[in-house]
Amino acid sequence: MLKLKDDLKGRDFISIHDFSAGEINYILETGAEIKKLQKGGIPHTYLQGKTLGMIFQKASTRTRVAFEVGMYQLGGHALFLSPRDIQLGRGETIKDTALVLDRMLDGIMIRTFSHDEVLELAKWASIPVINGLTDLLHPTQVVGDLMTIKEHKGRFEGLKLAFIGDGNNVAHSLLFGCAKVGMNLVIASPGGFEPAADILQRALADAEETGAELSVVRDPAEAVRDADVVYTDVWASMGQEEEAEEREKQFLEYQVNTKLLSLARKDAIVLHCLPAKRGKEITDEVMDGPQSVVFDEAENRLHAHKAIMALVM
Ligand code: CP
Ligand code: NVA
Repeated sequence: MLKLKDDLKGRDFISIHDFSAGEINYILETGAEIKKLQKGGIPHTYLQGKTLGMIFQKASTRTRVAFEVGMYQLGGHALFLSPRDIQLGRGETIKDTALVLDRMLDGIMIRTFSHDEVLELAKWASIPVINGLTDLLHPTQVVGDLMTIKEHKGRFEGLKLAFIGDGNNVAHSLLFGCAKVGMNLVIASPGGFEPAADILQRALADAEETGAELSVVRDPAEAVRDADVVYTDVWASMGQEEEAEEREKQFLEYQVNTKLLSLARKDAIVLHCLPAKRGKEITDEVMDGPQSVVFDEAENRLHAHKAIMALVM
């Protein structure tokens, strides 16, 4: 079994921003290695006897399956903790939940609304806490995305990623991810839907180290022109269902369709974190077309999450 470095043992995985460029690259390399082991049918039971608790306050297909199957493949066990069933859903505090889970588990993954809840959980739990998505960030997604880009493009330096749409949790984590690996990122969002200014500032500071160019523009065509990677996500995220109809009007020009994609490089790949609203932010033609690698991207969540767990737990 490939020997893993133990520098990251015990660390929380809450934001890509919390890790050095070297650490992010090591997580990506580990993901690629673990993927090879799994494809080769070679056991890689780094987490034998360990248990991960998974708290999901929002729905999930990919994240849940990737963590649960990933834990099994690593020789450990994963527990799905729905707020419908655990006392957190009846008002037990995050602090008390953390103090209890800390006594029984080896790691906690949480998907929730408020980012502060994840920080609170991590404050009181001594075991690693992994952020499985908040309203602010989606860091495990972006580890899988970066793995996918590396597989298809072989590098990050000199590439241009265009993110079209809402300056949401995925866009925020892409800012941090691109800054760390030295990939250029242009985000095109309608007015009022740009990424948060403080996230952009922190990512720009990280980017000084790697030379990544990060910018936010209004015009989707400007962002996509000569891009190597075109990325989009839903216009209304989980928790914004009531705004969905209004947002559709504001995002009409931000659909990734054949016309917009034709402005990108001929060999550009298309990413979407999924789930997609087909016919809204992305057309069937693009999503099912030859440039789309969205299902490679979804698969890579498994390998990426295994790397994160194997390194921090
Ligand atoms: N991309 C992503 O996180 O998918 P799920 O919501 O299905 O986990
Ligand atoms: N931005 C989306 C991502 C889903 C994986 C959401 O938060 O709903």
